[in-house]
Amino acid sequence: MTIIKPMKDGPLVAQGIPNLKDPVGADVKPEKPAFGLCRFGQSKNKPFCDGSHTAAGFSSDNGDAKLRNTPIQYTGQVEGKSVTVSYTPVLCGHIAECQRLHKQVFDPSQKPWVQHENGNLEGILSVINA
Ligand code: FES
Repeated sequence: MTIIKPMKDGPLVAQGIPNLKDPVGADVKPEKPAFGLCRFGQSKNKPFCDGSHTAAGFSSDNGDAKLRNTPIQYTGQVEGKSVTVSYTPVLCGHIAECQRLHKQVFDPSQKPWVQHENGNLEGILSVINA
């Protein structure tokens, strides 16, 4: 069973993750059954927490915890079909796997960062299935 638990002012503690990738898409085998996943995006050992959240002063009590736990849905047209992409910020490892797999759609430098009309169904499915 997969368990992901957000720690106050720290990482997501994860157990039972069936597959995990590093920022360039290589498979990662955690050394321990439970481990911390970086939640604020500045770890030098992504996707794992390296403890730098403490020095950076990361706060999980900044008032938007409810927003980070709420799925955000982006709906657009892809190949003539209406497609909705759902994203829950607190569950994201922020390692840009979606961008690596299908940058035409998932591009944080764009607003909104999901650009359905630039991609294709196969690319979106590759991100969903990653
Ligand atoms: S949450 Fe610990 S380094 Fe990112």
